[in-house]
Amino acid sequence: MKHVRLSIIGFGVVGQGLAELLVTRKELLRRHFDLQVTLVSVANARHGFIYREDGLDIPALLELAAQRRPLTELSGVKHWKDALEGLQATGGDILAEATGTNLRDGEPGVSHIRGALAQKMHVITANKGPIALAANELFSLAREQGVQLRIEATVMAGTPVISTVHEGMAGARVRAIRGILNGTTNYILSAMANGRDYEDVLAEAQQQGYAEADPTADVEGYDAVAKTLILAAVVFGHTLKPDQVQRRGITGVSREDIKHAIKNNERIKLIASLNTVEDFADCPLDARVEPVALPLSDPLAHIDGVTNAITFETDTLSKVTIVGPGAGRLPTGQGLLADLIAIARTTE
Ligand SMILES: NC(=O)c1ccc[n+]([C@@H]2O[C@H](COP(=O)([O-])OP(=O)(O)OC[C@H]3O[C@@H](n4cnc5c(N)ncnc54)[C@H](OP(=O)(O)O)[C@@H]3O)[C@@H](O)[C@H]2O)c1
Repeated sequence: MKHVRLSIIGFGVVGQGLAELLVTRKELLRRHFDLQVTLVSVANARHGFIYREDGLDIPALLELAAQRRPLTELSGVKHWKDALEGLQATGGDILAEATGTNLRDGEPGVSHIRGALAQKMHVITANKGPIALAANELFSLAREQGVQLRIEATVMAGTPVISTVHEGMAGARVRAIRGILNGTTNYILSAMANGRDYEDVLAEAQQQGYAEADPTADVEGYDAVAKTLILAAVVFGHTLKPDQVQRRGITGVSREDIKHAIKNNERIKLIASLNTVEDFADCPLDARVEPVALPLSDPLAHIDGVTNAITFETDTLSKVTIVGPGAGRLPTGQGLLADLIAIARTTE
């Protein structure tokens, strides 16, 4: 039986989702993958880093987190104030990094990932900031250290996008990508297509937890830009800067625009796109996030609500479209779990 010692830094929606799956999939992991995962450490911002050599009691930990009580109340744990210091003192085989996305400098995720790779831990992450801003540096560091950095959950949560490109479509040349990569904006645009007003739907999305109290990152397209940067790096091997993505959010889309599109048998969607442009010398990719009126013949025109979708145009498969959830506790935890299993299966 293979044993993996796991650390989770960032114990919010996603970190807890992964921990829950470790409990509910314990038997499946043993039976199908001959794998036992011991959660040895967990950190959040309020309570710091806790560690227990023999493994943390996950149900008790989830209960404390649900009640927002200090994680240090768990019996028999050692405690560090700072997550990175704790990780450096205790180690493990795999770090799951699930702190909040920061698109200014990628912190604290970049430091956590760098620190784990430097001590030869594999890393799985749902955090978009570090990969959007520092993919090149972090993947190079992982290679130098002989460990893996896997990022399935950063784009469309656990819906298998990155692994499909890297493994399922290995050998195909991707020429273009178009995707609906932000559930909040798609929810708003879908409701507007059904006659609702922007302000009204946004308020409802906030109430239902689909949109943040400050919706800027979603409605102005920054979240989709982050995913576009990640795809540029992992599919095309190009590190783009955020300002190399032409960005327009959905705040300028009016009811009239939507009605006009419907009359023309079109649907307006916030589309993230990457197109290879042979004769661009310095940047051979045209990268955009913008509202686009799609004809009904396009599969993306039919993606409604918080669902995400992505179409890859390749030389051997023509068009491949993947549809699935792009957020949520278990869907995102699933992306981390799949990466964890992939590492366990491909390492000694
Ligand atoms: N939620 C989704 O559906 C989803 C989908 C795909 C990707 N993601 C990405 O996954 C990541 C986590 O998302 P989430 O929804 O779980 O966010 P969240 O609920 O806000 O959780 C973030 C966690 O990170 C902790 N944290 C922040 N700074 C830290 C630090 N310096 N050291 C240790 N812990 C720290 C927070 O601590 P406190 O609890 O003390 O505040 C919290 O536990 C984000 O990068 C997000 O973009 C999320």
